Amino acid sequence: MIIAETISEVREQVRAWRADGLTVGLVPTMGALHEGHASLVTAAAAQCDRVVASVFVNPTQFAAGEDLESYPRDFEHDCQILSAKGCDMVFHPSVGEMYPDGFATYVNLESEMTAQLCGKSRPSHFRGVCTVVSKLFNIVTPDRAYFGQKDAQQLAVIKQMVRDLGFGIEIVGCPTVREEDGLAKSSRNTYLSAEERSAARVLYSSITAAQEMIAASDDEVPADEVLELMRSVVSAEPAAKIDYIEAVDSISLMPVEYVKKGTLIALAVYIGKTRLIDNFTV
Ligand code: PAF
Repeated sequence: MIIAETISEVREQVRAWRADGLTVGLVPTMGALHEGHASLVTAAAAQCDRVVASVFVNPTQFAAGEDLESYPRDFEHDCQILSAKGCDMVFHPSVGEMYPDGFATYVNLESEMTAQLCGKSRPSHFRGVCTVVSKLFNIVTPDRAYFGQKDAQQLAVIKQMVRDLGFGIEIVGCPTVREEDGLAKSSRNTYLSAEERSAARVLYSSITAAQEMIAASDDEVPADEVLELMRSVVSAEPAAKIDYIEAVDSISLMPVEYVKKGTLIALAVYIGKTRLIDNFTV
C-alpha cells in the first residue's frame, strides 16, 4: 500500500492508474479506523479497480471546545486495517498540506439541511466537512466515494453538494456496522468508560423500540408518538442526556409529521461527556 503525504503524490499515482484505464474509489476518514470504516474499504475494493483512503483529522469541522486535540489517532493501526482490506493508497496529509497559509475558500451549503439535527449544536460542522470533502474529491478525482450511513446527515449533505457542484462522483452510502449489543461502531466509542459503554446501549434500544412500534402499525405513525417512545427509553438511562431525537425526510432533512417510507429517525445522545449519534431510515 502506497502512503502519500502530499497532494502531488496522490495526483501522480491517480493519473497513472487512469492512464491504465482503471477506476478509483475514495474512502475519506479521520482515522481511528474500526470495522465500520473497514466495510467502506471492502465495498470500494469490490466496485473499483483501485482504492484510495484518506486519513486526516480535519480541524475545520471541529468547533472550539470540541474534541479536535483528543480525537483518537493511531496511523500504524489504521494502515494495517486499510492494507488488509485492499486499500491501494492512503493519503495522510498534514494540516499545512490541506490548509496552507492563506487558505480562504470554504464550501458551505446555503440550505436548512445543515441547520437541522447535528447542525443545531454544531453550526459550523458541515462547512468544514464539505470543504475538506470537496478538496479530497478534487485531489483524488474518484469515480465513487464511500460514506457510512451512521452519519446520515453528512451523507445527505454530501449528496446535495455533489449534485449542486456537478462533481460527477457516485456517492455510495454503506450500512452502519454495529457491536454485538447493537451500539453503532464509532471512533468516539473509545472515550467511554466501562459503565458508559454499557449505558450507551440505550441508543440502539430506543431504535429497536421505535422500529417495533412502526412495524406494529398498518398506517403511518405520528412522528410525535415514535419520538416520545424513544425519548422515554433514552431518559430511563441515568447516564444519558438527549441532544436531539428527530424524524425528518431522509433527503431534505426537514422534520416530518408522520413516519413513513423514507423517513429518517436520527438521534444524538451524550453518554457522560461523549456525544454519540445513530439513526435508521424507515
Ligand atoms: O466522517 C468522517 O470521518 C469525516 O467527517 C470525513 C467525511 C472524513 C470528513 O473529514
